[in-house]
Amino acid sequence: MEPASTPTTTLTEDVHQAALRDLPELVGEGRIHWGDDIRARHGADETEDLVFMPDVVLEPESTAEVSAILAWAHGHGVPVTAGGARTGLSGGALPIRGGIALSLRRMNRILAIDTLNHQAVVEPGVITEELSNAAAEHGLMYAVDPASRGTCTLGGNLAENSGGPRAVKYGVTKDWVLNLEVVLADGTVIETGANTLKNSTGYNLTQLMVGSEGTLGVITRATLKLLPLPRHQALMLVPFTSAESACAAVAAIFQAGAMPSALEFMERDAVLLAQAFTGNHEPALGPDDAAHLLIEVDGFAPEDLMPQCERILPVLEGHGAGEVLFAESAAEKDALWFLRRRVGEAVKAASTYKEEDTVVPRGELPRLLHKVKALGAKHGFRSICYGHAGDGNLHINILRDDLDEATWNDTLTWAIRELFAEVVALGGTLSGEHGIGYVQKNYMDLACSPAQLAVMQGIKSVLDPKGILNPGKIFPDPS
Ligand code: LAC
Ligand code: ZN
Repeated sequence: MEPASTPTTTLTEDVHQAALRDLPELVGEGRIHWGDDIRARHGADETEDLVFMPDVVLEPESTAEVSAILAWAHGHGVPVTAGGARTGLSGGALPIRGGIALSLRRMNRILAIDTLNHQAVVEPGVITEELSNAAAEHGLMYAVDPASRGTCTLGGNLAENSGGPRAVKYGVTKDWVLNLEVVLADGTVIETGANTLKNSTGYNLTQLMVGSEGTLGVITRATLKLLPLPRHQALMLVPFTSAESACAAVAAIFQAGAMPSALEFMERDAVLLAQAFTGNHEPALGPDDAAHLLIEVDGFAPEDLMPQCERILPVLEGHGAGEVLFAESAAEKDALWFLRRRVGEAVKAASTYKEEDTVVPRGELPRLLHKVKALGAKHGFRSICYGHAGDGNLHINILRDDLDEATWNDTLTWAIRELFAEVVALGGTLSGEHGIGYVQKNYMDLACSPAQLAVMQGIKSVLDPKGILNPGKIFPDPS
């Protein structure tokens, strides 16, 4: 594996000279950056403390400019790593082989909100929440709501197939994409599908592109599906003295016929860190609270909510839940969601950490949590677990605390391998919503057979024969 946090370059002197000569013709004034500071910013995302310097940062403003850049890069064999807001957690936007960091932030227009067909047409640099807000003005919902929705971009969400709390009822990014405009490695521009709700016309190139982490093409426009906006929510925060009981309640809630619009799990330490980070210490935790579930139900009218709560409450009681806190006002609901959405940042502020985005069939969640804690005891690491319990998607944050270099780099690599092997044995897989990117790639053999990986590699080589698109991602390093 490439050493982390090291500047890299793939440009020979000839190619460097060609870049200095040609790129200003392709991208306008002020949108080509060779300076150290801006390159360092585009060399990092939110993944651990990793930095890989690109040689140059380009900020195209149109599909035509993206196409010209890729045609040039293809001709010269220069790596291109596309990025949005760089909020990713698997290193998908890290330009680990140098070359071009392609920032799509300036392509940030909402081109249409089609209220007749419940569709939106967007450029990749639109902030996710801006689309949600624009849709809400028309009584519509863009359903995907990653924790970072106020800063992340739709292009990044598409590249990583992002989820978020509402995924449990509404699905992840892939479920809301109808059609994409994609620039291929050699600069060719294609549409992947049609702006229709149904489409059985050849291979599903749209879904192939979603979640491909910028390794198969650069998405320059997307047609996304919208829904009527459910305007009413009930939100409950539920304490448990046993974290495993909290996890066991999750599948039982669905078995009782409820369909929550969010079902989140937070260990005690996750809540405490988020409270310290946000400075809001409400609600006070009881001394024995080991974990909480944050459960939301939604509907189009207030009377839609109570029947769902009535299905959920007996299940909670049957699993030993403590007193349920119902958020009464919009402000109380916002405060609970603010707390939940800040957990990731709070952990990052507390310690260097490694984040795993494990996902199992949700009935296996108690066993997964048990195994995580057992591995922590065996290998001497502290973990903070939280996430989208309704999806069986547990974010496992392993904190560096005062672990020495050898333990952090070597022992932990093996401990995480052991963890992923357990996840796969439970019927799960490596990532639910953050992607494989850079930091998970050397565990891919655990989740994908050699034949499965060969199919993926075959697709990659057809679409990107020179390997210029986000190289060094998804596929394991050759051993
Ligand atoms: C969250 C991000 C880390 O769920 O996925 O908070
Ligand atoms: Zn998440």
